[in-house]
Parts: sequence; structure tokens; C-alpha cells
Amino acid sequence: MSGNHFNLVRRSSQKRKEYFMSKSPRNARVTTEDEFLKVLSVARTAAAKVDGYLTDKECHMLVLMAVCPTVAGEVLEIGSFKGLSTVLLATALESTNDPRLHACDPWAAIEAFGATMMTNDETFHTFQESLAKTGVSDRVTIHRAFSSDLAPKWNRPLRLLWIDGDHSVSGAKKDFENFSKHVVPGGIVAFHDVMHFHPGPSQVFATRVLLSDEWGACGICGSIGWAQKVRDRSEVLQNRDLKLRLLRRLMPLVDSTAFEKPLTGIHKLRFKLRRSFVPRSAPKYSDFSSLVGYRAAG
Ligand SMILES: C[S@@+](CC[C@H](N)C(=O)[O-])C[C@H]1O[C@@H](n2cnc3c(N)ncnc32)[C@H](O)[C@@H]1O
Repeated sequence: MSGNHFNLVRRSSQKRKEYFMSKSPRNARVTTEDEFLKVLSVARTAAAKVDGYLTDKECHMLVLMAVCPTVAGEVLEIGSFKGLSTVLLATALESTNDPRLHACDPWAAIEAFGATMMTNDETFHTFQESLAKTGVSDRVTIHRAFSSDLAPKWNRPLRLLWIDGDHSVSGAKKDFENFSKHVVPGGIVAFHDVMHFHPGPSQVFATRVLLSDEWGACGICGSIGWAQKVRDRSEVLQNRDLKLRLLRRLMPLVDSTAFEKPLTGIHKLRFKLRRSFVPRSAPKYSDFSSLVGYRAAG
């Protein structure tokens, strides 16, 4: 990389620091819709330099969850690929008191759902470059490992668990079982691709999250399904209808993908039709923060 490139990187991360520092003398917490939109725009600019597959709505949702630390704890990403969600989260986390992010991915060829996801040393190198060119390397702890190998060693409380790794049913189930127990009450679990043909995320989100009394406030934004671990029993009742309404819309997708086979022809069309009935718009900062009971100290 040229010296010029590093100067540009230094300058853009310096600019970002200045923006966050200027917001408040003590820290740079997001407290309003406008502040959220500014952080979102900064995070999107950084993410534009990275390859990956997240829609605008999904970027919005990731940044929203990052800037609303509903409770103290760490943020763990399972499945980093070339670093798109890593960069979005790490950039948005700058506006919180605890900007650390853990990223777990083996960056090794993986067999999943009949296809091989070719990640390797080259992908890992691209991932490291993504962090470097967006100025977030020093805040991301990299765990180059299968999540199942990280799990026995993991003992930190999580305030956000972002699952975007092995999309098979057994893979998503294992990730949820191994790590959701570390999500503290008030913390959030989020799965990517709950609206996708891959069966794991939708099945686990529907059956383990929406049907469980451990989880309360929830939603789907783009293809991200998220839910908050309840702090007390009242949140179970409070969110019961919301969860059941979402479940009713999601179950037909679970039915379509249950056999873990690629969908073709009429089955694919039916899946898409069923998907069109699932509400999945991007929540406003004010709606999300009130749904999860987040009050930023101004
Ligand atoms: C869909 S990609 C992740 C995309 C990434 N979040 C982004 O925003 O670009 C899935 C990633 O999960 C990783 N992966 C697959 N199985 C895994 C496992 N068991 N543990 C951790 N990561 C895994 C793959 O190596 C791949 O990089």
C-alpha cells in the first residue's frame, strides 16, 4: 500500500475521531435521531470501501444495535468474511463508551448447505486490509477459529451477539446455544439471513427465540432477525403479541426451507411470496430505543 493511502486512512479516521469528540465533552453517545443518522452515514462511508453482502436496511439495523448499548457487555460477531459488518459495527461502536468488537471466523473453506464458501488466507488478508483502510484495526479482536472452537473458551458477558457464520440448521443452532447464554438480560441477539433460502437462521430465530420466554422485544429488518433478552417477566408479557405476530409471518418460510435443499421453480416462487408478507422495514432510532428500553445519558 502506498504512503499516500495510509495518509488518507489516517486523515479519515482522524476526521471521524474529531466528529465523535466534538459531540460531547465526555463521550460521543448517540441521543437523537439526527445523531444516529450522522453515525450511520459515517459508518456507511467506511463500509463502502469493503466488499460484502448487506443491504442498506441491514447496515441501518447493525448500526442501530451498535449505538444503543442497552446494557454493559461486549459485542461478538460470528462470521466476518471480508469485514463488511465488522467495519460497520466497529465504526458505529466509536460512538459508545466501549468500542471493542470481537470477530470470529476461521477463514477456511467451509461446506454448508451444499455449497462451499471459499474463505481462505487470501480472504483473511482482505479482511485485515478492510480493517486497516477504515482505521478500526486497533479496536477489533480477531478470533481466527470456528465458533465451536471459540465457544469453550468464551466467558465474557455479551450485550450484542451477531450471528452470520454457518447458516446450516445445526450450525446456527450451535452458535445460538453456545453463545446466547452469554448474552446478559437486556442484551441483543441478531441473526443475518432470516429471510434467506438458508434454513438455519430462520429456523433458529423462529423456534429458539420467538417461541422462547427468554426473549422479548424483537423485529426483522431486511434479513436481520433480532431480539432482546428479557430483564424481567413483565417484558415477556409486554412483547408476547409482537413475537407471535412475527412468528406467524416467519413460520411459512421455515416450512419452505425445512428440508435444507436448494429451492427451485414453484417452491422458490412460493418462498418469495411468503417472504413478501413479513414486515421488515428499518426502525427509527427513537422507535428502536424505546422498544428496547434504551435511554442514552445525554
Ligand atoms: C455470510 S459470510 C459473513 C459475512 C460478513 N458478516 C459480512 O458482513 O460480510 C459467512 C462467514 O462465516 C464464516 N463461517 C462459516 N462457518 C463458521 C463457523 N463455524 N464459525 C465462524 N465463522 C464461520 C465463513 O468463513 C464466512 O466468512
